[in-house]
Amino acid sequence: MTNKQKNAPIGVFDSGLGGISVLRELVKLMPGEDYLYFGDDVNAPYGSRSEADVLKLTESAVQKLLDNGCKAVVLACNTATAAAVVALREKWKDQILVGAEPAIKPAIRDGHTVIGVLATATTLSSRRFHHLARTVGKDATILPIPAPGLVELIEAEEWSGEKVEAFLENLLREPLQSGVRALVLGCTHYPFAAGAIRKVSGGLPLYDGNRGIALRTQELLRREDLLQNCTREGQVTFLHCGQSNHFFKLAELLLSANPTEAK
Ligand code: DGL
Repeated sequence: MTNKQKNAPIGVFDSGLGGISVLRELVKLMPGEDYLYFGDDVNAPYGSRSEADVLKLTESAVQKLLDNGCKAVVLACNTATAAAVVALREKWKDQILVGAEPAIKPAIRDGHTVIGVLATATTLSSRRFHHLARTVGKDATILPIPAPGLVELIEAEEWSGEKVEAFLENLLREPLQSGVRALVLGCTHYPFAAGAIRKVSGGLPLYDGNRGIALRTQELLRREDLLQNCTREGQVTFLHCGQSNHFFKLAELLLSANPTEAK
């Protein structure tokens, strides 16, 4: 059951470390809140799993966060959102569940007409993504760029340097030749590689949805009068659940340090 109390934590979930790029925006916007982060790195990556699989895993992750008394749960994972958010909102009608989606809207708002969307294969093949591209992106050319392997590189701390740059050169060669003029980072892991993506793409504008997710979470909590008093300093707790110590060390690093980010 959700703990509908102001002093309950906000749950944040991803398949691994990617959701920390969202957590950072949440903490920046609402530093007075407590956060409970769960990265399911035992089952990661989600991006090459079937939607049915991702739905099952996401359902059990959300259940875990609700069992831990969270007043809201943020699916800080585009893949989990694409596969599960509709079904989970149906199941937990009175809970605050915030999802992530590729940030095509702000790219369109900035006037871009040829937009590449980097995301996992599961996100890009989902009905949710096709609907987004057909509606929000209807007057633009939206080019899906599945990036299998990029999540694994980032989880292995290869978010900058020669290895990831070589990977990205290969991945982006054709889209760049096709005239892509902006890139949407449609996976919450990718902002950690934003420096390398910017370098390889020749400085194309990058878009991620993280600030938007934080604002939406704040708005939904305010509506239900569940925001904490902002003068206190909140805490981030990582939920231990089979992950290695390495995971927690990296999670702390990514939360506190300032790896290159998308603008
Ligand atoms: N971070 C997840 C996303 O936003 C995907 C990671 C994975 O493939 O597990 O899509």
